[in-house]
Amino acid sequence: MSKFPNLRLRRMRRTDSIRNLTRETSLSVDDLICPVFVIHGQNVREEITPIPGYYHLSLDQLPREINEIANLGIHAVLLFGLPDYKDPQGSGAYASNGIIQNAIRVAKREAPGLTVVTDVCLCEYTNHGHCGILDDSGVNNDQTLGLLSRIALSHGEAGADIVAPSAMMDGQVGAIRAALDKNNLSDLPIMAYSAKYASSFYDPFRVAADSTPITGDRRSYQMDSGNVREAMREIRLDLEEGADIIMIKPALAYLDVIARARREFEEPLCAYNVSGEYSMVKAAEHLGWIDGNHIALEVLTGIKRAGADIIISYHAKEVAQMLQEAHSV
Ligand code: PBG
Repeated sequence: MSKFPNLRLRRMRRTDSIRNLTRETSLSVDDLICPVFVIHGQNVREEITPIPGYYHLSLDQLPREINEIANLGIHAVLLFGLPDYKDPQGSGAYASNGIIQNAIRVAKREAPGLTVVTDVCLCEYTNHGHCGILDDSGVNNDQTLGLLSRIALSHGEAGADIVAPSAMMDGQVGAIRAALDKNNLSDLPIMAYSAKYASSFYDPFRVAADSTPITGDRRSYQMDSGNVREAMREIRLDLEEGADIIMIKPALAYLDVIARARREFEEPLCAYNVSGEYSMVKAAEHLGWIDGNHIALEVLTGIKRAGADIIISYHAKEVAQMLQEAHSV
């Protein structure tokens, strides 16, 4: 009985409304986190060339961006900062009046209901561009942990809603959790960049964040792209150390990792649809080779279908706009 010609799967594809009723995975603006880049200075609103639609914003320009994002119905932003000085210890990252700490205050003042997530890392703030402190043999894991804890603490004290450690140091989630708990921030959640791969998909971001390492690369701390079992181990360790949300990054070349993490873990799962994934779409759209809007929806739907609950994406603004328009029809 249940085969052709009695069974015809095309029946369920006949109209928009039937397709809507039977769709297994739907995108919602609730799923999205939108990145924002802040910089020192005044009246700065400079488009980041390889990430079109995203800007280096001075703090006086931040309210406008925050309002635009909030008006699109997006509930969360991920802040990245460019400091006015860099040193070997990345001290600008944990200055109480640093660029991110001030940006958190501006964002929370402008839109108290908006969830402000912060990236806890050193690479934008160190003069060598690595995600930790250097010694003779490379990035020193254990010495870096104290600094990452100070960064997370300074973000929490400035009012961040979620801190997201991305340095890929062993033990970073546990160290940060302990520091937060000791300082009255036991309610502040940690979103762990658990399985963060060493990836060329970050190249546009490194232009945006001025964080390309001046020597070497990040392969001694970020993951090798061939590994998926190791990703499960990274996630398991982060959960044992107290992560509240786990993350896989990048997204598109790692959908199998997302799908496997979804099967193995119950916790909220985030995927970071990174800068290079966005830039490629924008470049092809600019050349007239693809329909950027449709591709953006397809990309984010694919990441969600693979198993992500939360998606950090530069497509957030345009997709939120499309979802808003679709609802108002
Ligand atoms: C900081 C950090 C990076 C990204 C997010 N946090 C860069 C890196 O690890 O080199 C990349 C994000 C993107 O490409 O959009 N360590």
